[in-house]
Amino acid sequence: MELAYKVIEEDSKYLMQSFTRWYPLVIDHAKGSLIYDVDGKEYIDMNAGIGVMALGHGNEKVIKAVEDQMRKFFHYSLTDFYYDLAVRVARKLVSLLPFDGKVFYTNSGTESVEASIKIARGHTGRQYVIGFLNSFHGRTFGSMSFTSSKSVQRSMFSPLLPSTLLVPYPDRHNPLCREDCSSSVLSYIEDWILRKVVDPNDVAAFILEPIQGEGGVIVPPREFLQGLEKISRNNGILLIMDEVQTGIGRTGKMFAFENFNVKPDLICLAKALGGGIPLGAVVGRSEVMDLPKGSHANTFGGNPLALAASEVVLEEIPGLLSRVSKLGEEIRDILSLARSPYLDEVRGMGLMIGAELTKDGKPYEDGLAKVLNNSFKRGVLAIGAGESVVRLLPPLTIEEDLAVKGANVIKEEMEKL
Ligand SMILES: Cc1ncc(COP(=O)(O)O)c(C=O)c1O
Repeated sequence: MELAYKVIEEDSKYLMQSFTRWYPLVIDHAKGSLIYDVDGKEYIDMNAGIGVMALGHGNEKVIKAVEDQMRKFFHYSLTDFYYDLAVRVARKLVSLLPFDGKVFYTNSGTESVEASIKIARGHTGRQYVIGFLNSFHGRTFGSMSFTSSKSVQRSMFSPLLPSTLLVPYPDRHNPLCREDCSSSVLSYIEDWILRKVVDPNDVAAFILEPIQGEGGVIVPPREFLQGLEKISRNNGILLIMDEVQTGIGRTGKMFAFENFNVKPDLICLAKALGGGIPLGAVVGRSEVMDLPKGSHANTFGGNPLALAASEVVLEEIPGLLSRVSKLGEEIRDILSLARSPYLDEVRGMGLMIGAELTKDGKPYEDGLAKVLNNSFKRGVLAIGAGESVVRLLPPLTIEEDLAVKGANVIKEEMEKL
């Protein structure tokens, strides 16, 4: 770890230290689902750069596409000009949706969320946007106004965006919600919030993650999303799904909302979309994507190198979906077999997996830190979510034997607690 600690020392000198960071991994290079640190040690990647590297590291098709694009042009900006690559990727994205859609490109998840709020307000002429407790939507002011998985993400930065509300997500961790609380949450929204707090005619949109990622891999009941869709439709409120983490095949469907048989109006994307090059997008129903000329744009959104990578991603991911579901089930089965009094629940969909650790009925944060650190020492990379959830987001291409090996190391470390 000699070289690693040197980098870490300099990092603390030159970089603001507002990150989370679970253990001292200093990466040198990566290939497929393996990571190599600066001291030459090999690791199984069960994290994929927080769900970004869906096709694994150093995918040859992505490299070739980006190299070819580099020789054409790096950047020119869709704000004032046109290029066919932007149209091709948008056409492909829209072809994967269950409705006629249009695309607006961004550079990150938070920027997609910001854009979706502007589109929703602009289209409806309404001000209010309702988000859900324990969500993570990003760290800029608009998205932060709905981010509420940890108070440190918000507490120093008020005032946040006005005309926003947070309501409960159907989550058994919510003290008001021990069992499946789908119907009580829906009636709280419909019968209290939309009657007593805000007139539905003032609400532009609901924004939510179809599965809460950073909040602890919380999978809501199907009826909840379907009920929320109904409330939205009945009141002319738009439904924004933040699929920044769940989208592009992560849950075994191209978009997670497909698992719940609902149709959003706007979808926020980023992470895996650009194959490791920053790229985000808002994809929405054509009639909703109607902000007027000059009202929204950016310099870098739809960067040609990112789009070249994305074209490969969108071509390759649909062919991986059934293996994502199967492999996800296999990993969840392995983790569920851990003989640990601290393993509360293993959950998730596809290759978005969480194993929650509790002690005396409370989040076991130290247990999480131990599992992550000891797995790291044994060459397996995972990160945390919620207060004490081991979160796995491996590349969707991870070889079965590597995934099984990685899952077994995590299982053993949970057993050792
Ligand atoms: C669901 C969700 N939305 C938004 C974001 C923010 O994305 P970014 O970090 O690219 O701004 C994240 C990041 O983890 C996320 O998981």
